[in-house]
Amino acid sequence: MSTDPASLYSRKNPFPAPHPVNRRLSGPSSQKETRHHEISLAGSGLRYEVGDSLGVFASNDPGLVQEILLAVGASGEETVTGTDGGAKSLREALLRDFIITTPSKEFLAALVAKAGDAVADLAALTGDAARKKELEAYLWGREVIDFLLAHPGLQWSAEEFVKALRKLQPRLYSIASSQKAVGEAVHLTIATVRYETFGRNRLGVASTFLADRTAGGAGVPVFVHTAKHFRLPEDPATPVIMVGPGTGVAPFRAYLQERKALGGGGKNWLFFGEQRRDSDFLYGAELEALQAEGVLTRLDLAFSRDQEQKVYVQHRMREASAELYAWLEEGAHFFVCGDGERMAKDVDAELQAIVARESGCSAEAAAEYVEGMKKAKRYKKDVY
Ligand SMILES: Cc1cc2nc3c(=O)[nH]c(=O)nc-3n(C[C@H](O)[C@H](O)[C@H](O)COP(=O)(O)OP(=O)(O)OC[C@H]3O[C@@H](n4cnc5c(N)ncnc54)[C@H](O)[C@@H]3O)c2cc1C
Ligand SMILES: NC(=O)c1ccc[n+]([C@@H]2O[C@H](COP(=O)([O-])OP(=O)(O)OC[C@H]3O[C@@H](n4cnc5c(N)ncnc54)[C@H](OP(=O)(O)O)[C@@H]3O)[C@@H](O)[C@H]2O)c1
Repeated sequence: MSTDPASLYSRKNPFPAPHPVNRRLSGPSSQKETRHHEISLAGSGLRYEVGDSLGVFASNDPGLVQEILLAVGASGEETVTGTDGGAKSLREALLRDFIITTPSKEFLAALVAKAGDAVADLAALTGDAARKKELEAYLWGREVIDFLLAHPGLQWSAEEFVKALRKLQPRLYSIASSQKAVGEAVHLTIATVRYETFGRNRLGVASTFLADRTAGGAGVPVFVHTAKHFRLPEDPATPVIMVGPGTGVAPFRAYLQERKALGGGGKNWLFFGEQRRDSDFLYGAELEALQAEGVLTRLDLAFSRDQEQKVYVQHRMREASAELYAWLEEGAHFFVCGDGERMAKDVDAELQAIVARESGCSAEAAAEYVEGMKKAKRYKKDVY
């Protein structure tokens, strides 16, 4: 979905964008690899607003494609039907069209049908809806290649193999820039997904495509995903509170660029958290400069692993309880971005606790207050 109806480009027709900047934000001693990416939209007619995300159609790792081809006894030159219904080589289809990491239900069913007794345990799990959780636990960390290597010699025709795979989906990334500051560029802040399970190194498809595999390519196929639910308040004088640990800081970097360019005088408060100050203070110098300039009114930092006890953004919110409530009472908009599994829930609970503590109301009344903020579109989340 493009924000500019005049653009030729959209999710259905992504723009092949140059990717001129790809640098590591986290320091060499970090346990993470979070990167700053810049993508050029020049000539595309695509436009975005702060709060929007960029959709990226990534290609799979060619090394993994090659291993899969060997494991199914194919050369890669075989002709198969791609996800658009057209004919293409098996190698191209595995690179661009299909999910080749997480096994689909169809793949497991085909494996069970081919391997018979050799996969009796898997057959029992896939054949019993009541054992869904057990199946999930069994599949955790296992990829298509593991099953192929564990059961060599099964006969797969190229077409039958791709029919057992699901369509590769684009990934969304919060845009970390404002066009008022960067023109036709899009900045992204991406945690590169690399991990090891069952003795194999695994690669997140899109985050490692952007980190490792775009150089010399034909451009990164992208589209703009509009996020009307995650817009700055219309009045630039309205105060905003932003809670964005980890890569959750991305849209708030965009907000700060936007508010600086607009110059409306609204107060801005950011809560940022990461593992260690030394290696993980993403955009640290930039944020401190914005604070020195007065664009960032208040910056509260929670480095979780710099001391024995974990310190998270919600702990910093609690320490600033009275001031945070005062901002809410002034009409501040409250934003949360980043991990939706745990962080956003804990931040929500702390917000309610702050309202109850500072206003002296009951937990029920505090929940209603926060619900009222949501209804008034003053409490906005973009979590993943
Ligand atoms: C609106 C929105 C905005 C987003 N913004 C950002 C952003 O700004 N920055 C950002 O970095 N991400 C962002 N994301 C997440 C992003 O879209 C991708 O989900 C993320 O980059 C992973 O994609 P991938 O293709 O690299 O990994 P995938 O190939 O999708 O692999 C990820 C999967 O690997 C598995 N996995 C990961 N780690 C482990 C482990 N240690 N052990 C076992 N299994 C594991 C999990 O099943 C996980 O789901 C956003 C998501 C949404 C919906
Ligand atoms: N499903 C999972 O188990 C899991 C785990 C991590 C990340 N993720 C996903 O990985 C992606 C990228 O993560 P990221 O690199 O942006 O950062 P992140 O993993 O969200 O970490 C950023 C900071 O948040 C802290 N944190 C952990 N739990 C928290 C909580 N309950 N409340 C507040 N802060 C908390 C982390 O501390 P500590 O790490 O020191 O605890 C770290 O200091 C996101 O999509 C996220 O959802 C998933």
